[in-house]
Order: sequence, then C-alpha cells, then structure tokens
Amino acid sequence: MHNIFSRVNNVSAFLSSCMMTLLAAIALSSFLFTATPHGDLTISSIKVVASNARRYPNKKQDVAFMNFNITADLTPLFHWNTKQLFVYLQAEYTNKQGVKNEVVIWDRIVRRKGDAFVKFAGKNKYMFRDISSSFKGVPPANYTLKYNLMPYVGVLQYGEAARTTEELPFPPSQRL
Ligand SMILES: *[C@@H]1O[C@H](CO)[C@@H](O)[C@H](O)[C@H]1NC(C)=O
Ligand SMILES: *[C@@H]1O[C@H](CO)[C@@H](O)[C@H](O)[C@H]1NC(C)=O
Repeated sequence: MHNIFSRVNNVSAFLSSCMMTLLAAIALSSFLFTATPHGDLTISSIKVVASNARRYPNKKQDVAFMNFNITADLTPLFHWNTKQLFVYLQAEYTNKQGVKNEVVIWDRIVRRKGDAFVKFAGKNKYMFRDISSSFKGVPPANYTLKYNLMPYVGVLQYGEAARTTEELPFPPSQRL
C-alpha cells in the first residue's frame, strides 16, 4: 500500500516538474523568437479646441484632436505563445511643469493573426487634455505606436512599432 502511494507521488512530482520545465521553455523560446515589427505612423493634422469645462462654465479647457494614419504589420508577433496584442497610439510630451507625460489617444486589441495587419486612418478615440487645461506654451510632442504582447505563458512584452520622425507642435487653440 505504502509502496503504491509513494510511487504515485513520485510519478506526479516528476510530471509536474516536466510541466514546469515545458512552460518555462515556452516562455523563454517566445522571447528568443519575437520579431520586431515595423510600421508607419503619420499625424496628418493637429487641432486644439477651447471648449467649456464641464463643471465650470466660465473656464476654458483645451482639447487636442489629431488625425493620423497607421499601417503596421504585426503578424510576426503572432506565434505559439501569443494570446493577444494590445496596440496603442501614445502622445509623449513634457508639460510646462517639466513633467513627462504619456497619453494614450487610441488603442485596439488584436486577437487573431488575421487581424494583425493594422490599418487605420482617423482621429483619437480618447480625449487629449493637459492638466494645466491649456496647450499654450506646451512643447511639441512625439507620437508613438506601441504594443503589449500578452502571452499564454510568461510575462507581458512591450515594444514599439512606429514613431513620428519629428516632434510636432500644438497649434494655438480655436474657439468652438
Ligand atoms: C495612410 O498611409 C498609407 C501608406 O503610407 C497611404 O497609402 C494612405 O493613402 C494613407 N491614408 C490616409 C487617409 O492618409
Ligand atoms: C522625441 O523623440 C526624440 C527622438 O527619439 C527624443 O530625443 C526627444 O526627447 C523626444 N521628445 C519628447 C518630448 O519626448
């Protein structure tokens, strides 16, 4: 009796350590084979509009809108250990207080390799405002297309697929 139990125990310990080794190998191998995808990102126009702040009707709040164009082939990121990709467009700028800001203005989740060729032309999905409530005097921003690779096994991987070649200024705000 005792013998059988200890055997079962040994076998299951052996199997679970095999399993751990296999999972570790999958996690490691996906690091080794991850490709660096290339994409294009163009910001075709930037507009800043002074709108009424919601709670304070006498206060103006600048909102920035950008039209952009993304083409990125992310299919190389799909391999045996890719569950999904989180793709996002980020504005990176240093505000008037000297604080570095990263603001996500658009995103998309890609679940299948067949959808991994990302093509999008349009404008921001999320409101882009500065904490100072105005973009006047805010230095120009960079725009980058980034991704998170969510694996079945292992840790999140971060990467960049495209970025604008130069910093782009915020234009003076227009009244609505
Ligand atoms: C977006 O970029 C692609 C490739 O650079 C180009 O063919 C297409 O015309 C652009 N679309 C818009 C709406 O600017
Ligand atoms: C924009 O990108 C350039 C080149 O990568 C970098 O030198 C610069 O500091 C960036 N500017 C901002 C505001 O992040």
